[in-house]
Amino acid sequence: MIFIDACFGKKTPFTPVWMMRQAGRYLPEYMKVRSKAGDFLSLCKTPELAAEVTLQPVDILGVDAAILFSDILVVPLEMGMNLKFAAGEGPTFSNPILTKDDLNALEVDEAAKKLEYVYQSIKLTREKLADNKALIGFCGSAWTLATYMIEGGGTKTYSRVKKLLYSEPDFLHKILIKVTEVLKLYLENQIKSGVNAVQIFDSWANALEEEAFFEFSWRYIQDLCLFLKSRYPHIPIIVFPKGVSGYFDKIEGSFDVFGVDWSTPIKLAKEKLGGKYVLQGNMEPTRLYSKKAIDKGVEHIVDIMQNERHIFNLGHGILPDVSVENAKYFINLVHNKTKI
Ligand code: CP3
Repeated sequence: MIFIDACFGKKTPFTPVWMMRQAGRYLPEYMKVRSKAGDFLSLCKTPELAAEVTLQPVDILGVDAAILFSDILVVPLEMGMNLKFAAGEGPTFSNPILTKDDLNALEVDEAAKKLEYVYQSIKLTREKLADNKALIGFCGSAWTLATYMIEGGGTKTYSRVKKLLYSEPDFLHKILIKVTEVLKLYLENQIKSGVNAVQIFDSWANALEEEAFFEFSWRYIQDLCLFLKSRYPHIPIIVFPKGVSGYFDKIEGSFDVFGVDWSTPIKLAKEKLGGKYVLQGNMEPTRLYSKKAIDKGVEHIVDIMQNERHIFNLGHGILPDVSVENAKYFINLVHNKTKI
């Protein structure tokens, strides 16, 4: 698989490319399956349909890897939290963690078992996916998940989780330890079900100042990476902590690929991390609105990453109102420009 070779820094005939959120609302075919399922969470919980939408971007766009169709928040859901995806509102939990009893009520082993529908989605997808295409599994970082679990949803200020961080750090660590226990079981089960690589999304890494990032987020990501690497060294690990370019000098660990977000100049990532890790990214996702902007964005990244170890991607998820034609144009352009 070209994608897996690239994750391990091997030379490939072209730079593999996929897009974060590549199975989603910009695809009419996705909307059709989603309406069949009823809503987003039902789609995640119906393996036949989840597998179908996972495969769509491979068939329609020709990306080099599929990413499991699910959400990072199914983990807290199955730990025992009431998750709702209300239209236009984003995800919410009606029972956020406020006390030690709330934390004690959450499950670990049972949660990993209840996520069986994810493992089934993986098995069905892997059966239907071409042998030369990789299937990427994923989870959220403990920090990003804990933030949702404590805030009860999205947040601009992170006030509840940060109040804990500075006033009851031991309690926050207990939450992070418990979430990490589930993530270990969860990713291990994903690997046993057939994923070829895993990506850890730390979407809210940039809410933390340097010292706090390493203590409350990176440390738990690395605990998870070490657990997986010691057991499944053949499975590449991609980390994607958003907005931490100021901390690159201290980034180090047991992973293969570093996902670069779009706000980080790719040149800076290359200088600081490119020698040690394969880089993934990082075209600004809204460039997909214009072919001219795609041309410039791709050219810029190809110029800098030529002859470097690189996987092409966006620097964050594709937006729902991007045209399929432009998404296809982007994928083809990357393949053509990087062919050797
Ligand atoms: O990348 C993929 O195609 C795989 C599937 C995937 C989804 N979410 C599907 C989804 C992945 C990898 C995620 C990760 C995820 N989910 C993250 C980390 C990455 C990032 O974006 O920073 C986060 C923070 C979430 C939480 C989440 N899920 C939010 C905030 C939302 C609502 C915002 C939105 O785009 O509507 C979701 C819903 C969600 N997850 C959708 C999809 C396709 C949209 C649901 C729909 O209406 O169909």
